[in-house]
Amino acid sequence: MMRLLVTGTNGQVAQALAERAGQFPEITVIVVGRPQLDLENIATVFPAIAEAGADLVVNAAAYTAVDKAEQEPQRAFAINRDGAAAVAAAAQTLGAPLIHLSTDYVFSGSKATAYVESDETGPLGVYGQSKLAGELAVRSANPSALIFRTSWVYSPFGSNFVKTMLRLAGERRVLRVVEDQVGSPTSALDLAEAILRIASCAGVGSGATFHVAGSGSVSWCGLARHVFEVSRLAGGPTAKVVPISTSEYPTPARRPANSRLDTSAFEACFGRSLPDWRLGVEATVRRIIAGVN
Ligand SMILES: NC(=O)c1ccc[n+]([C@@H]2O[C@H](COP(=O)([O-])OP(=O)(O)OC[C@H]3O[C@@H](n4cnc5c(N)ncnc54)[C@H](OP(=O)(O)O)[C@@H]3O)[C@@H](O)[C@H]2O)c1
Repeated sequence: MMRLLVTGTNGQVAQALAERAGQFPEITVIVVGRPQLDLENIATVFPAIAEAGADLVVNAAAYTAVDKAEQEPQRAFAINRDGAAAVAAAAQTLGAPLIHLSTDYVFSGSKATAYVESDETGPLGVYGQSKLAGELAVRSANPSALIFRTSWVYSPFGSNFVKTMLRLAGERRVLRVVEDQVGSPTSALDLAEAILRIASCAGVGSGATFHVAGSGSVSWCGLARHVFEVSRLAGGPTAKVVPISTSEYPTPARRPANSRLDTSAFEACFGRSLPDWRLGVEATVRRIIAGVN
Protein backbone atom coordinates (compact mmCIF):
# COMPACT_ATOMS: atom_id res chain seq x y z
CA MET A 1 0.00 0.00 0.00
CA MET A 2 1.40 3.40 -1.01
CA ARG A 3 0.89 6.28 1.41
CA LEU A 4 0.43 9.55 -0.47
CA LEU A 5 0.53 12.64 1.73
CA VAL A 6 -1.14 15.77 0.36
CA THR A 7 -0.77 19.15 2.04
CA GLY A 8 -3.75 21.46 2.65
CA THR A 9 -6.96 20.20 4.25
CA ASN A 10 -9.73 21.99 2.38
CA GLY A 11 -7.93 22.76 -0.86
CA GLN A 12 -9.54 21.79 -4.17
CA VAL A 13 -6.73 19.48 -5.24
CA ALA A 14 -6.30 17.99 -1.76
CA GLN A 15 -10.01 17.12 -1.56
CA ALA A 16 -10.00 15.82 -5.13
CA LEU A 17 -7.06 13.54 -4.35
CA ALA A 18 -8.78 12.24 -1.24
CA GLU A 19 -11.94 11.49 -3.24
CA ARG A 20 -10.32 9.99 -6.35
CA ALA A 21 -8.12 7.75 -4.18
CA GLY A 22 -11.25 5.63 -3.80
CA GLN A 23 -10.53 4.36 -7.33
CA PHE A 24 -6.98 3.33 -6.41
CA PRO A 25 -7.09 0.56 -3.81
CA GLU A 26 -3.30 0.43 -3.73
CA ILE A 27 -3.02 4.09 -2.59
CA THR A 28 -3.97 5.63 0.75
CA VAL A 29 -4.24 9.41 0.65
CA ILE A 30 -3.41 11.22 3.88
CA VAL A 31 -4.49 14.85 3.97
CA VAL A 32 -2.42 16.97 6.34
CA GLY A 33 -3.00 20.67 6.88
CA ARG A 34 -3.12 23.43 9.45
CA PRO A 35 -2.40 23.46 12.35
CA GLN A 36 -0.38 20.19 12.23
CA LEU A 37 1.34 21.26 9.02
CA ASP A 38 1.41 25.05 8.65
CA LEU A 39 3.51 26.41 5.81
CA GLU A 40 3.78 29.72 7.64
CA ASN A 41 5.31 27.94 10.60
CA ILE A 42 7.97 25.86 8.94
CA ALA A 43 8.98 24.17 12.19
CA THR A 44 5.74 22.15 11.81
CA VAL A 45 6.54 20.85 8.34
CA PHE A 46 9.16 18.15 8.89
CA PRO A 47 7.49 16.54 11.94
CA ALA A 48 4.09 16.45 10.20
CA ILE A 49 5.47 14.78 7.08
CA ALA A 50 7.73 12.41 9.01
CA GLU A 51 4.89 11.32 11.27
CA ALA A 52 2.68 10.42 8.32
CA GLY A 53 5.25 7.97 6.99
CA ALA A 54 4.61 9.08 3.43
CA ASP A 55 5.86 7.22 0.34
CA LEU A 56 5.01 10.21 -1.86
CA VAL A 57 4.29 13.86 -1.03
CA VAL A 58 2.06 16.16 -3.09
CA ASN A 59 2.40 19.81 -2.11
CA ALA A 60 -1.02 21.23 -3.02
CA ALA A 61 -1.14 23.80 -0.19
CA ALA A 62 -0.50 27.36 -1.25
CA TYR A 63 -1.44 30.97 -0.71
CA THR A 64 -3.85 31.21 -3.68
CA ALA A 65 -5.61 34.56 -3.10
CA VAL A 66 -4.27 36.29 -6.21
CA ASP A 67 -5.59 39.79 -5.47
CA LYS A 68 -5.07 39.72 -1.69
CA ALA A 69 -1.45 38.73 -2.27
CA GLU A 70 -0.78 42.26 -3.55
CA GLN A 71 -1.44 43.50 0.01
CA GLU A 72 0.24 40.56 1.74
CA PRO A 73 3.43 39.81 -0.19
CA GLN A 74 5.24 38.59 2.92
CA ARG A 75 2.59 35.96 3.65
CA ALA A 76 2.45 34.89 0.02
CA PHE A 77 6.22 34.41 -0.09
CA ALA A 78 6.34 32.78 3.34
CA ILE A 79 3.83 30.12 2.24
CA ASN A 80 4.55 29.75 -1.49
CA ARG A 81 8.35 30.02 -1.34
CA ASP A 82 9.57 29.24 2.18
CA GLY A 83 6.81 26.79 3.08
CA ALA A 84 7.18 24.99 -0.24
CA ALA A 85 10.94 24.80 0.28
CA ALA A 86 10.39 23.27 3.74
CA VAL A 87 8.09 20.59 2.26
CA ALA A 88 10.66 19.90 -0.45
CA ALA A 89 13.50 19.62 2.07
CA ALA A 90 11.46 17.31 4.31
CA ALA A 91 10.58 15.03 1.39
CA GLN A 92 14.25 15.00 0.35
CA THR A 93 15.45 14.08 3.86
CA LEU A 94 12.80 11.39 4.21
CA GLY A 95 13.49 9.97 0.75
CA ALA A 96 9.88 10.47 -0.38
CA PRO A 97 9.37 11.62 -3.98
CA LEU A 98 7.63 15.00 -4.26
CA ILE A 99 5.12 16.50 -6.68
CA HIS A 100 4.89 20.25 -6.18
CA LEU A 101 2.05 22.23 -7.80
CA SER A 102 2.65 25.53 -9.49
CA THR A 103 0.77 27.84 -11.80
CA ASP A 104 0.27 29.43 -15.22
CA TYR A 105 0.63 32.79 -13.42
CA VAL A 106 4.43 32.41 -13.51
CA PHE A 107 4.08 33.70 -17.09
CA SER A 108 3.34 37.22 -18.31
CA GLY A 109 0.77 36.11 -20.89
CA SER A 110 2.31 38.11 -23.71
CA LYS A 111 3.15 35.04 -25.83
CA ALA A 112 0.80 34.44 -28.77
CA THR A 113 0.71 30.65 -28.43
CA ALA A 114 0.49 28.16 -25.54
CA TYR A 115 3.38 28.24 -23.06
CA VAL A 116 5.92 25.41 -23.00
CA GLU A 117 7.94 24.59 -19.89
CA SER A 118 11.12 26.26 -21.12
CA ASP A 119 9.46 29.59 -21.95
CA GLU A 120 10.72 32.63 -20.14
CA THR A 121 8.76 33.35 -16.97
CA GLY A 122 7.61 36.84 -16.04
CA PRO A 123 4.88 36.92 -13.40
CA LEU A 124 2.68 40.01 -13.36
CA GLY A 125 1.79 39.97 -9.66
CA VAL A 126 2.86 38.93 -6.18
CA TYR A 127 1.07 35.55 -6.31
CA GLY A 128 2.87 34.55 -9.52
CA GLN A 129 6.17 35.91 -8.22
CA SER A 130 5.84 33.94 -4.99
CA LYS A 131 4.95 30.74 -6.86
CA LEU A 132 7.92 31.20 -9.20
CA ALA A 133 10.19 31.75 -6.21
CA GLY A 134 8.64 28.56 -4.78
CA GLU A 135 9.55 26.58 -7.90
CA LEU A 136 13.17 27.70 -7.61
CA ALA A 137 13.29 27.02 -3.87
CA VAL A 138 11.74 23.56 -4.31
CA ARG A 139 14.15 22.70 -7.09
CA SER A 140 17.10 23.80 -4.99
CA ALA A 141 16.00 21.87 -1.87
CA ASN A 142 14.89 18.78 -3.77
CA PRO A 143 16.47 18.35 -7.22
CA SER A 144 14.35 15.30 -8.07
CA ALA A 145 11.00 16.97 -7.33
CA LEU A 146 8.40 16.97 -10.07
CA ILE A 147 6.84 20.39 -10.57
CA PHE A 148 3.41 20.42 -12.21
CA ARG A 149 2.19 23.82 -13.41
CA THR A 150 -1.58 23.81 -13.76
CA SER A 151 -4.21 26.48 -14.52
CA TRP A 152 -7.75 27.71 -13.88
CA VAL A 153 -8.57 24.95 -11.37
CA TYR A 154 -12.25 24.28 -10.61
CA SER A 155 -14.08 21.55 -8.72
CA PRO A 156 -17.13 20.97 -6.54
CA PHE A 157 -14.88 21.90 -3.58
CA GLY A 158 -13.69 25.19 -2.10
CA SER A 159 -14.06 28.37 -4.13
CA ASN A 160 -13.48 28.68 -7.83
CA PHE A 161 -14.81 30.45 -10.93
CA VAL A 162 -17.40 27.79 -11.82
CA LYS A 163 -18.96 27.87 -8.36
CA THR A 164 -18.87 31.66 -8.32
CA MET A 165 -20.71 31.86 -11.67
CA LEU A 166 -23.46 29.51 -10.47
CA ARG A 167 -23.84 31.47 -7.23
CA LEU A 168 -24.00 34.83 -9.01
CA ALA A 169 -26.56 33.48 -11.49
CA GLY A 170 -28.84 32.91 -8.53
CA GLU A 171 -28.53 36.62 -7.69
CA ARG A 172 -28.34 38.45 -11.08
CA ARG A 173 -29.73 37.94 -14.57
CA VAL A 174 -26.80 39.51 -16.42
CA LEU A 175 -23.11 38.89 -15.67
CA ARG A 176 -20.22 40.81 -17.23
CA VAL A 177 -17.28 38.46 -17.74
CA VAL A 178 -13.78 39.11 -19.09
CA GLU A 179 -13.26 37.93 -22.66
CA ASP A 180 -9.64 38.88 -23.35
CA GLN A 181 -7.99 36.39 -20.97
CA VAL A 182 -7.65 32.88 -22.35
CA GLY A 183 -6.59 29.75 -20.49
CA SER A 184 -7.06 26.02 -19.97
CA PRO A 185 -9.63 25.25 -17.28
CA THR A 186 -8.54 22.24 -15.23
CA SER A 187 -10.79 19.96 -13.23
CA ALA A 188 -9.16 19.27 -9.85
CA LEU A 189 -10.66 15.78 -10.05
CA ASP A 190 -9.03 15.12 -13.46
CA LEU A 191 -5.73 16.49 -12.17
CA ALA A 192 -6.00 14.31 -9.05
CA GLU A 193 -6.67 11.23 -11.14
CA ALA A 194 -3.62 11.92 -13.31
CA ILE A 195 -1.45 12.34 -10.21
CA LEU A 196 -2.74 9.08 -8.73
CA ARG A 197 -2.12 7.17 -11.98
CA ILE A 198 1.42 8.52 -12.16
CA ALA A 199 1.95 7.61 -8.50
CA SER A 200 0.64 4.09 -8.99
CA CYS A 201 2.28 3.27 -12.34
CA ALA A 202 5.11 5.37 -13.64
CA GLY A 203 6.57 6.57 -10.38
CA VAL A 204 8.03 10.00 -9.84
CA GLY A 205 11.45 11.39 -9.13
CA SER A 206 12.69 12.69 -12.47
CA GLY A 207 13.27 16.28 -11.37
CA ALA A 208 11.38 17.92 -14.23
CA THR A 209 8.76 20.62 -14.68
CA PHE A 210 5.59 19.79 -16.63
CA HIS A 211 2.51 21.69 -17.71
CA VAL A 212 -0.63 19.75 -16.71
CA ALA A 213 -3.99 21.29 -17.58
CA GLY A 214 -7.35 20.46 -19.12
CA SER A 215 -7.20 19.97 -22.89
CA GLY A 216 -8.27 22.92 -25.04
CA SER A 217 -8.66 26.54 -24.06
CA VAL A 218 -11.31 29.21 -23.67
CA SER A 219 -11.82 32.73 -22.31
CA TRP A 220 -13.42 33.35 -18.90
CA CYS A 221 -16.46 34.54 -20.82
CA GLY A 222 -16.62 31.36 -22.90
CA LEU A 223 -16.18 29.30 -19.75
CA ALA A 224 -19.06 31.12 -18.06
CA ARG A 225 -21.30 30.56 -21.09
CA HIS A 226 -20.53 26.84 -21.07
CA VAL A 227 -21.24 26.65 -17.33
CA PHE A 228 -24.69 28.17 -17.91
CA GLU A 229 -25.42 25.99 -20.95
CA VAL A 230 -24.82 22.90 -18.86
CA SER A 231 -26.62 24.37 -15.86
CA ARG A 232 -29.73 25.23 -17.91
CA LEU A 233 -29.95 21.67 -19.27
CA ALA A 234 -29.57 20.33 -15.72
CA GLY A 235 -32.29 22.65 -14.37
CA GLY A 236 -29.83 24.92 -12.56
CA PRO A 237 -29.40 28.72 -12.56
CA THR A 238 -28.44 30.59 -15.72
CA ALA A 239 -27.52 34.16 -16.59
CA LYS A 240 -26.89 36.18 -19.71
CA VAL A 241 -23.13 36.63 -20.13
CA VAL A 242 -21.91 39.96 -21.49
CA PRO A 243 -18.28 39.97 -22.66
CA ILE A 244 -16.09 42.75 -21.28
CA SER A 245 -12.40 43.57 -21.55
CA THR A 246 -9.88 43.29 -18.73
CA SER A 247 -9.70 47.08 -18.60
CA GLU A 248 -13.41 47.18 -17.73
CA TYR A 249 -12.84 44.88 -14.72
CA PRO A 250 -9.90 46.31 -12.81
CA THR A 251 -8.42 44.05 -10.12
CA PRO A 252 -5.55 44.64 -7.66
CA ALA A 253 -3.42 41.99 -9.41
CA ARG A 254 -2.77 41.98 -13.15
CA ARG A 255 -3.46 38.65 -14.85
CA PRO A 256 -1.90 37.10 -17.97
CA ALA A 257 -3.95 37.60 -21.16
CA ASN A 258 -2.70 34.24 -22.42
CA SER A 259 -2.62 31.52 -19.76
CA ARG A 260 -2.65 28.59 -22.16
CA LEU A 261 -0.26 25.79 -21.17
CA ASP A 262 1.17 23.41 -23.78
CA THR A 263 0.89 19.97 -22.19
CA SER A 264 2.62 17.91 -24.89
CA ALA A 265 5.72 17.20 -22.76
CA PHE A 266 3.49 15.76 -20.01
CA GLU A 267 1.65 13.64 -22.58
CA ALA A 268 4.89 12.37 -24.12
CA CYS A 269 6.34 11.46 -20.72
CA PHE A 270 3.30 10.00 -18.99
CA GLY A 271 1.29 8.78 -21.99
CA ARG A 272 -1.86 10.63 -21.02
CA SER A 273 -3.53 13.99 -21.28
CA LEU A 274 -6.23 15.49 -19.11
CA PRO A 275 -9.73 15.36 -20.67
CA ASP A 276 -11.15 18.29 -22.62
CA TRP A 277 -12.04 21.13 -20.24
CA ARG A 278 -15.70 20.96 -21.32
CA LEU A 279 -16.10 17.42 -19.98
CA GLY A 280 -14.84 18.31 -16.53
CA VAL A 281 -17.01 21.43 -16.43
CA GLU A 282 -20.06 19.38 -17.36
CA ALA A 283 -19.45 16.82 -14.62
CA THR A 284 -18.67 19.52 -12.06
CA VAL A 285 -21.67 21.73 -12.85
CA ARG A 286 -24.09 18.80 -12.72
CA ARG A 287 -22.64 17.74 -9.40
CA ILE A 288 -22.84 21.25 -7.90
CA ILE A 289 -26.46 21.62 -9.03
CA ALA A 290 -27.36 18.23 -7.63
CA GLY A 291 -25.89 19.46 -4.33
CA VAL A 292 -23.43 16.58 -4.13
CA ASN A 293 -20.18 17.74 -2.69
N1 LIG B 1 -6.92 27.43 -8.05
C1 LIG B 1 -6.36 27.65 -9.23
O1 LIG B 1 -7.02 28.16 -10.16
C2 LIG B 1 -4.93 27.29 -9.49
C3 LIG B 1 -4.39 27.58 -10.73
C4 LIG B 1 -3.05 27.23 -10.97
C5 LIG B 1 -2.31 26.61 -10.01
N2 LIG B 1 -2.86 26.37 -8.79
C6 LIG B 1 -2.00 25.74 -7.78
O2 LIG B 1 -2.53 24.45 -7.50
C7 LIG B 1 -2.33 24.13 -6.13
C8 LIG B 1 -3.64 23.72 -5.50
O3 LIG B 1 -4.55 24.78 -5.64
P1 LIG B 1 -6.05 24.67 -5.08
O4 LIG B 1 -6.93 25.32 -6.08
O5 LIG B 1 -6.32 23.28 -4.61
O6 LIG B 1 -5.91 25.63 -3.82
P2 LIG B 1 -7.04 26.13 -2.82
O7 LIG B 1 -8.32 25.40 -3.08
O8 LIG B 1 -7.04 27.60 -2.83
O9 LIG B 1 -6.51 25.59 -1.42
C9 LIG B 1 -5.33 26.09 -0.88
C10 LIG B 1 -4.90 25.11 0.18
O10 LIG B 1 -3.69 25.62 0.75
C11 LIG B 1 -3.81 25.52 2.13
N3 LIG B 1 -2.99 26.50 2.84
C12 LIG B 1 -2.98 27.85 2.69
N4 LIG B 1 -2.12 28.39 3.56
C13 LIG B 1 -1.56 27.36 4.26
C14 LIG B 1 -0.60 27.27 5.28
N5 LIG B 1 -0.04 28.35 5.83
N6 LIG B 1 -0.28 26.05 5.74
C15 LIG B 1 -0.84 24.93 5.25
N7 LIG B 1 -1.77 24.96 4.29
C16 LIG B 1 -2.12 26.16 3.80
C17 LIG B 1 -5.26 25.74 2.44
O11 LIG B 1 -5.49 25.27 3.73
P3 LIG B 1 -6.90 25.13 4.47
O12 LIG B 1 -7.45 23.85 3.99
O13 LIG B 1 -6.53 25.14 5.91
O14 LIG B 1 -7.70 26.32 4.06
C18 LIG B 1 -5.90 24.95 1.32
O15 LIG B 1 -5.99 23.60 1.68
C19 LIG B 1 -1.66 25.35 -5.50
O16 LIG B 1 -0.27 25.16 -5.53
C20 LIG B 1 -2.00 26.47 -6.45
O17 LIG B 1 -1.03 27.49 -6.42
C21 LIG B 1 -4.14 26.67 -8.52
